[in-house]
Amino acid sequence: MESIKNRRTIRKYTQEDVPAELLNELLEEAFRASTMGNMQLYSVVVTRDAKMKERLAPAHFNQPMVTSAPVVLTFCADFNRFSKWCEQRKAEPGYNNFISFLNAATDALLVTQNFCTLAEEKGLGICYLGTTIYNPDQIIDLLKLPKLVVPVATITVGYPDECPAQPDRLPIRGIIHEEQYHDYTPAEIDDIYAYKESLPENKHFVEINHTETLAQIFTDIRYKKSDNEYMSEGLKKVLKRQGFDD
Ligand SMILES: Cc1cc2nc3c(=O)[nH]c(=O)nc-3n(C[C@H](O)[C@H](O)[C@H](O)COP(=O)(O)O)c2cc1C
Repeated sequence: MESIKNRRTIRKYTQEDVPAELLNELLEEAFRASTMGNMQLYSVVVTRDAKMKERLAPAHFNQPMVTSAPVVLTFCADFNRFSKWCEQRKAEPGYNNFISFLNAATDALLVTQNFCTLAEEKGLGICYLGTTIYNPDQIIDLLKLPKLVVPVATITVGYPDECPAQPDRLPIRGIIHEEQYHDYTPAEIDDIYAYKESLPENKHFVEINHTETLAQIFTDIRYKKSDNEYMSEGLKKVLKRQGFDD
């Protein structure tokens, strides 16, 4: 059994299938996650069909894991099922608003992380795809998601065909605050990011991208303001389209 301390994201998978029984067992266990008011405000769409994966891939910027993993899971914030139940029971749902989306997204992400940890414990490899919230429109159309359902995370799952080195993490002294948040001095920022900046692979990134600092790779290349603004507008439109607009 793998410890969470040894985990790493897996992006290459063997041809071995993930049995439906195992997948359902893991999901059922993941559904034990805390959930707002025990409402279980999530749904999971399982994609195994090769054609469907090919159609999903562009929404994930054609990241190869989408077509190469035996299973692709799309975790959705879902107030549709619960609202329908209310309506069928003479109760008027009031969940077409932003806070309800956030509550459902929280529920869905807790289940997602539980699933990932449980899958990794069973020797499976997973990759979290954040592209889901970059191109939600395409995913909504392909997976036929109704109103009050929004995809929030995609996980590719399979048996690992690689064992990459574990990426670094910031030292815990840089993350944990005792009692109150102590804002960072410039010297503390230097200290917290020193190890990351010293890594040969990161120095190499800076060199080949011709930036002055590692931070500029994030701000100017990987996660740019203009992209973030564009995708924020898209996400706001999608929340409206899916009925979380009050
Ligand atoms: C919100 C989020 C979005 C992510 N999106 C992607 C992605 O689109 N493609 C990918 O290959 N990895 C993605 N990842 C995985 C991260 O790259 C990975 O977790 C990080 O580099 C740390 O590596 P580790 O998981 O091996 O510790 C994402 C992770 C999170 C939490």
